[in-house]
Amino acid sequence: MARVQSLRTQFLLRLAVPLALFVVLDAMASYYIALHYANAAYDRWLLDSARSLAQEVKAQHGKLTFELPPSALEIFQWDEVDQTFFKIESPHRGFLAGDHRIPPPPDLASVREQPLYFDSAIRGQRVRVVSMLTAPKDSSEEVLVQVAETVRKRRSMMTDILLAELVPQLLLVCIAGSYIWLGINRGLRPLNTLAREIAQRSPRDLTPIPDTRVPQEVLTLTRTINDLLARLSTAMAAQQRFIANAAHQLRTPLAGLKVQAERALRETDLASMRPALAQIRNGADRASRLSTQLLALARSETALGGSHPASRVDLHAVARDTCMDWAPKALQRNMDLSFEGSPRPVLVQGDETLLREALNNLLDNAIRYGRDNGQIVVRVAASPKPTLVVEDDGPGIPESEADRIFERFYRPPGSPGDGCGLGLAIVKEIAEQHGARVRLSRSELGGARIEILF
Ligand SMILES: Nc1ncnc2c1ncn2[C@@H]1O[C@H](COP(=O)(O)OP(=O)(O)OP(=O)(O)O)[C@@H](O)[C@H]1O
Ligand SMILES: [Mg+2]
Repeated sequence: MARVQSLRTQFLLRLAVPLALFVVLDAMASYYIALHYANAAYDRWLLDSARSLAQEVKAQHGKLTFELPPSALEIFQWDEVDQTFFKIESPHRGFLAGDHRIPPPPDLASVREQPLYFDSAIRGQRVRVVSMLTAPKDSSEEVLVQVAETVRKRRSMMTDILLAELVPQLLLVCIAGSYIWLGINRGLRPLNTLAREIAQRSPRDLTPIPDTRVPQEVLTLTRTINDLLARLSTAMAAQQRFIANAAHQLRTPLAGLKVQAERALRETDLASMRPALAQIRNGADRASRLSTQLLALARSETALGGSHPASRVDLHAVARDTCMDWAPKALQRNMDLSFEGSPRPVLVQGDETLLREALNNLLDNAIRYGRDNGQIVVRVAASPKPTLVVEDDGPGIPESEADRIFERFYRPPGSPGDGCGLGLAIVKEIAEQHGARVRLSRSELGGARIEILF
């Protein structure tokens, strides 16, 4: 069974997850941008310090000196949070002043072009270092000035930025998330109401579901359901009518049987009972025919269950065999029953028993209502569409009856014999089950012509 997906989960996944993702991406982007600019500001301060130290390097009598009054040094190193280090050295003469522990720049050549920043560590503490080259006045010698600073200020700034960015964004996600949750719940409410309304209905209640307070999207659903209810209601009404008709039709021969049986019981000798017994036999025949036809109709309605038939049937073979079955009956009325088949099999998707039943009814009619010594033709054709035709040269069916003749229990007034009016309804039902059409017309032979077009 396919897993049932909740609409609510789907909405949430499609809305909240991307939203959270965007917020995280946005927070990350603004964090890195803020960090970049703040870092740049601290780096500038580091460079300024290096420059002011560089100014204190002097050349005297060919010697390089660096002197910084202790008070100035204190100001330079004074910082509540971070520790600052410096180192001044000449590539030729070596260390001049400051702190040995500052590591040399990784690439001295590039320092020649512009000050170089890099990250390093002094005694296990992370530091940011700037290195620059300077040439004191009256000297051609280069001096490397480096200033290093621990990164506590930068770190606490990073935390501050992160908190300032993330907290409001997270709040935003929570607020947006709850709004989405509420919105989804409210949006789905009409569906729940609809489900409850349908669940509470009695199975007999086929009135339309009220659709005045449902949103547009659900309206399609309610309309489809209402359409279905309308069709069901029509079908149920037809079914009820059919049952009522069938009961009525069955009652007539049964009442006749009873009357005749009572009449026979009143007689004393067999000879005077005979007419009543003959009537009883006729009545029993009629009741038996009716029940056969009712069963055939029920079978044709349910056999395929509305689905399209699965097996392939050769219409030619079915028609030929059925004609042979009926030949003796035709002979009794001295009728000429001929079969015009197709040179090759005429395959249709169908149910052989049902197709035989339909043809049985058409042949029964042709023989029953045709004229003595008459002619009946059964024809099967493959093109343009598979077709089955039964025609005769009897009195035919008037055009005016064409609409009603396929109705259940309908027989035109004055119809001979004692049929029950179900034969053509069965034919029509079977044709419809096969996706085929039935057409009534006047035959060139003079009688009725009934055609099933697949
Ligand atoms: N080939 C035919 N020629 C003339 N009339 C016909 C022909 N076929 C059908 N009819 C008329 O159509 C009516 C309906 O036929 P249908 O087969 O539906 O019912 P039925 O023959 O009366 O009863 P049953 O259910 O027993 O077949 C018949 O009563 C008859 O009047
Ligand atoms: Mg009939």
